[in-house]
Amino acid sequence: MKLYNIKEHEQQVNFEEAVRTGLGRNQGLFFPQELPRFDDIDALLDMDLVSRSTEILSALIGDEIAKPRLHEMVASAFDFTAPVVAVNDKISALELFHGPTLAFKDFGGRFMAQCLKELSDGEKITILTATSGDTGAAVAHAFAGIDNIDVVVMYPKGKISHLQEQLFCTLGGNIHTLAVEGTFDDCQAMVKHAFDQPELRKTVGLNSANSINISRLMAQICYYFEAVAQLPKDQRDQLVVSVPSGNFGNLTAGLLARSMGLPIKRFVAATNANDTVPRYLESGDWAPNPTIATISNAMDVSAPNNWPRVEELVRREEFSWDLLSSDRVTDEQTAETLKAMHEQGYVCEPHGAIAYRVLEQTLQPGEHGLFLCTAHPAKFIESVEDILSVKLELPKALADVADKENLSELIAADFAQVEAKLRSL
Ligand SMILES: Cc1ncc(COP(=O)(O)O)c(C=O)c1O
Repeated sequence: MKLYNIKEHEQQVNFEEAVRTGLGRNQGLFFPQELPRFDDIDALLDMDLVSRSTEILSALIGDEIAKPRLHEMVASAFDFTAPVVAVNDKISALELFHGPTLAFKDFGGRFMAQCLKELSDGEKITILTATSGDTGAAVAHAFAGIDNIDVVVMYPKGKISHLQEQLFCTLGGNIHTLAVEGTFDDCQAMVKHAFDQPELRKTVGLNSANSINISRLMAQICYYFEAVAQLPKDQRDQLVVSVPSGNFGNLTAGLLARSMGLPIKRFVAATNANDTVPRYLESGDWAPNPTIATISNAMDVSAPNNWPRVEELVRREEFSWDLLSSDRVTDEQTAETLKAMHEQGYVCEPHGAIAYRVLEQTLQPGEHGLFLCTAHPAKFIESVEDILSVKLELPKALADVADKENLSELIAADFAQVEAKLRSL
């Protein structure tokens, strides 16, 4: 597999280097030079999740990982399901929260851990990641206990749900968590800043597990195929997919899946009040505002990391703007939507509800809608119980950590403190 740095095209790397370094020079994201296209999509869709995902990932990665080995890696990473569940006649949910940390991030985090184990030759690796809630848990669980790898997760203190925090701040061992007095964008900026220091990068063997890392995005492509495989054939050609978006990694993976031949008619990018992208698509001005805290906290991002990859797909004519619509949803509307979904017998959480709402507003006669349910409702138990006046049962993964001691260190949004932590490991 060959990839180039979107900001400095002359920097070209293979899959191994892209996974191991995470981010290119000048904070440029890596992007595949060529996207494979599957002509016989029906044959691919007839396969089971693991075999199909192996085909997809192998077509992307090429001979850097032999297919039988890749099959084993995919089988251990994707050892849970992603069911499509009908909410009503027109709209279905793709439930991506059946993995160990109950969010879609388990796909990317677990596959990335497999890749790093496969490709590293025993030298020290420090994974520095910023989380708006769910990446931290997925990455921490995927890497917990692995020799030679330390994980440092930064998150905005007080701005993620209690159970999201408990899932990754109670592990200890090689998992180090920093509660930052600032926003997710502050945390993300410090990750990027760390990557700009060549000496630090080399000394601590810096890597990022954010959706900056191409292996995570590649894993996410696979569940779009899984969704279409589960839909009746007559819904496949008129399919509109709605993605609850924060950093826009999930949307990027969907666009890549379409470029590889998956029949998706068009996409909807749904945001909360942090609406840099909907405003950009309306006005052509890229004007991030200060981040606002919402009940869909994992999408409280105003400077989305993956947007340059979306633009790159358009620049390369793999995708066109008229196939993407975008809108924002307020907290009040999110709550209303959760109730309306509940009346139809479906318990959702704020992120999925945002995608459902924008989808419902844009769906045209004859189209079928699919929205991504990115987290288990119990991860946001306080708001879901409060809005729906229901009692949710805690899944075991959450019940086990609910009362454990939080091991996080509190720091200011100050890179010097992050650097000191990295050098101390
Ligand atoms: C539950 C949930 N939904 C949606 C998103 C947004 O996904 P992306 O950042 O890929 O746009 C996140 C990201 O953190 C999330 O945790």
